[in-house]
Amino acid sequence: MAYKIAVFDAKPYDMATFNKANEAYGFELVYHKEHLDKNNVLLASGTDAVCIFVNAKVDEEVVSKLHSYGVKLIALRCAGFNNVDIAAAARKGIKVVRVPDYSPHAIAEHTLALMLCLNRKVHRAFLRTRDGNFSLIGFQGFDMYGKTIGVIGTGKIGKVATGLFQGLGMNVLAYDLYPDTKWADATGVRYVSLDELYANANIITLHCPLTKETEYLICDESIAKMKEGVMIINTGRGKLIHTRHLIEGLLNGKVGYAGLDVYEEEGAYFYEDHSDSVMTDDVLARLLSFNNVIVTSHQAFFTQEAMSNIAHTTMNNILDFFNGKELKNEVVYNKA
Ligand code: NAI
Repeated sequence: MAYKIAVFDAKPYDMATFNKANEAYGFELVYHKEHLDKNNVLLASGTDAVCIFVNAKVDEEVVSKLHSYGVKLIALRCAGFNNVDIAAAARKGIKVVRVPDYSPHAIAEHTLALMLCLNRKVHRAFLRTRDGNFSLIGFQGFDMYGKTIGVIGTGKIGKVATGLFQGLGMNVLAYDLYPDTKWADATGVRYVSLDELYANANIITLHCPLTKETEYLICDESIAKMKEGVMIINTGRGKLIHTRHLIEGLLNGKVGYAGLDVYEEEGAYFYEDHSDSVMTDDVLARLLSFNNVIVTSHQAFFTQEAMSNIAHTTMNNILDFFNGKELKNEVVYNKA
């Protein structure tokens, strides 16, 4: 009997990659357009596992319902797991697995794309030349070469991104809760305190997970410590930045540029076409009004290679669980 998996937040591109990967696994995949939350958790009844993505909201109530339906596994098809109540899942004996490593290159390269685009105003030049306007007024950028970038979080993505920045001839300052000094010595990266990073970086890029400690890491207090005109890039998680404080910084010029692939309230908008309706999120609307801000729709992961790796790793995780094998990608609840 094939195990039945409810795949939430399923877009045409997810279905295409998952159907192709599933030729090797033979699961019964049931696709749902919505992201899993308390309003639609009933859709998971009668399935063995749920497969979810970044904007699912799996709180204690959802976990309890999944448990009552007999769902045994929550398979995240992403790296971050801040949207799942891991403690509640552990209490109910539901295992949680994720895809910790599908292509750090995809995210690092998108980070670089945002930086270069903002600096050289490619987003504005694209619109200007299409309108027959070939003026350069307002488009002056700066050489990346020789500038200082502050990398917060030097895990898989932060490390790959650092290599790209060094390729441009940038100086890299880094901050991590658990510094990898061997890597830093080998690459010439200097670990510094957050305050030193804020004071010296022309560009700051976020590659740490969203945790209680990192929530609103970028806020009025930290922005005040940064260089005038700093560029802030976030391809991590939306809540790493207090968006209203960022907007204040943009308004008074302290923040010169922001490249955001993630947004704290993205669940209501990202991944869907809302072009036919009025935008009711005033904060997002304000962000989109700045010509020195680029918002992308949590797409940093979205490459062919990453999608294929995500599908295969997710299905392997599910297969290992049902075969009673060791779960190498389990998210283990850590009481401490
Ligand atoms: P990773 O686990 O390899 O690295 C995270 C690093 O952050 C580790 O070195 C860890 O020690 C450090 N860290 C933890 N707490 C910290 C703190 N309080 N302050 C500073 N550093 C801290 O994770 P990876 O693969 O590099 O991903 C990083 C994050 O990027 C993920 O947690 C996820 O939220 C985000 N991401 C975004 C994607 C997108 O499409 N925009 C796709 C994939 C991941």
